[in-house]
Amino acid sequence: MNDAVLSPPPIGHAGGPKVLLEVFGCQMNKLDAELMVSALKRAGYDFTDRDEEAAAVLLVTCAIRDQAEHRVHSHLGELSVLKRSHPDLALGVLGCQAQRQGQELLSRWPALDFVAGTRDFPKVARMLDEVRADRTRLIALEGDPETVSEERDVTVRPHRGRAFVNVMRGCDKRCTYCVVPNTRGVEVSRPMADVIAEIDQLVDDGVVEVTLLGQTVNAWGRREDRSLGELLHRLEELPGLHRVRFITSHPEEMDDRLVDAMAACRKSGLFLHLPPQSGSDSVLRRMARGYTVERYDEILVSLRERIPGIEIGADIIVGFPGETDEDFEGTRRLMERSRFSQAYVFRYSPRPGTPAFGRMDDDVPDAVKRERLAALNALQNRLMLERHRGLIGSRHEVLVEGASRKDPRRLFGRNLAFDRLVFEGDPDVEGRFIEVEVTDVTALTLSGHAVSEVRSAPASPAPAAV
Ligand code: 5AD
Ligand code: SF4
Repeated sequence: MNDAVLSPPPIGHAGGPKVLLEVFGCQMNKLDAELMVSALKRAGYDFTDRDEEAAAVLLVTCAIRDQAEHRVHSHLGELSVLKRSHPDLALGVLGCQAQRQGQELLSRWPALDFVAGTRDFPKVARMLDEVRADRTRLIALEGDPETVSEERDVTVRPHRGRAFVNVMRGCDKRCTYCVVPNTRGVEVSRPMADVIAEIDQLVDDGVVEVTLLGQTVNAWGRREDRSLGELLHRLEELPGLHRVRFITSHPEEMDDRLVDAMAACRKSGLFLHLPPQSGSDSVLRRMARGYTVERYDEILVSLRERIPGIEIGADIIVGFPGETDEDFEGTRRLMERSRFSQAYVFRYSPRPGTPAFGRMDDDVPDAVKRERLAALNALQNRLMLERHRGLIGSRHEVLVEGASRKDPRRLFGRNLAFDRLVFEGDPDVEGRFIEVEVTDVTALTLSGHAVSEVRSAPASPAPAAV
């Protein structure tokens, strides 16, 4: 969950009014921002990453925790000041926070020109035109979840070899802490044919790895009698596509069919993001997650039996209402035995409009939340370091994502298990597969050197584990 300024390649309408697009929140937001970039380009806009030269600043926002929304408010404070010296600057707030706060944002920030919700991004270019021409203030929060446009110029994307593909919007679960069903609406899966057609085009344009996005992506297609496993099998047969990832999976929706498909489909790799959220049955019940700790453990056992080498990624919330020391100890133990290859731990943040809000007291003191967060992060660091130490000397097939952010002279990429690798090598290999030998590790990263370029075609499929 990092912020990014999306600066697409300067093709198209160089010289048009410049837009600065700032994206907060999850991958789904980043992808929505890409769709907006396509639409804004078609409407004649150009892009910048400097607010002094921008004709418009658009914030694509997140609402998942209070902190995310606070940051946008303080940013709007700064932009309001900027607007005093640049009165023509147009300001828009889009996405999840816009959906949640709507009119309240316009009332609080007189400098703000328009607000568009999570299903209204296809209208953003038109709204921006209108705001700039007439200096009116606009709000759109009514987009229809069933018909939201996924229209996309596949050539507009920040990475050469990788792309995200929306396969499902919204969420029908009712996890009591979560604002997403409010901000992104009901679950709607995209039809198989649309998904395949989009991926076909992306692959023709040089994409070798796709990440399928959905709030409960492993429930994809259930209304149309389809399953994610079926989609994985279809993509397995698509020449030119080498890796298929999918996020985020819900433990309640895991079934043997999907595990079978993952075991059989080599491209779907060795990583699954499967957030447990808590290791206490009573907390899981109050979160309305629909599974027990025992069931979660069973799923991991079956995944690891069927898919040797698979790594699991976790999200965990500490300090959920009523979480006792004993509940927390359950989460600590779950983390210890599950040996996640990565885990994000969050402090519970009450979100207005969620089932827990108002019904369950946010009774775990912030100091205790912080202590629990620090304890789990320390544990996770130790576990990751132990795992990484065991990988010294091993070789990995790495898809090169670009220069390392910390050290631009080195390259950054990921292996099939989604581990982060930083290594010495020829800089001109973005989007290619390189074999890397690990020589040194930290808790977060494996470092090493390139041994050879692997291939430009996927290795022959391994026999399905049975
Ligand atoms: N407070 C804290 N963390 C939350 N998450 C979702 N809602 C909240 C909340 N209200 C976490 C969950 C989810 C991740 C994306 O954010 O762990 O998996
Ligand atoms: Fe993504 Fe959820 Fe944040 Fe919306 S609220 S941007 S869906 S993480």
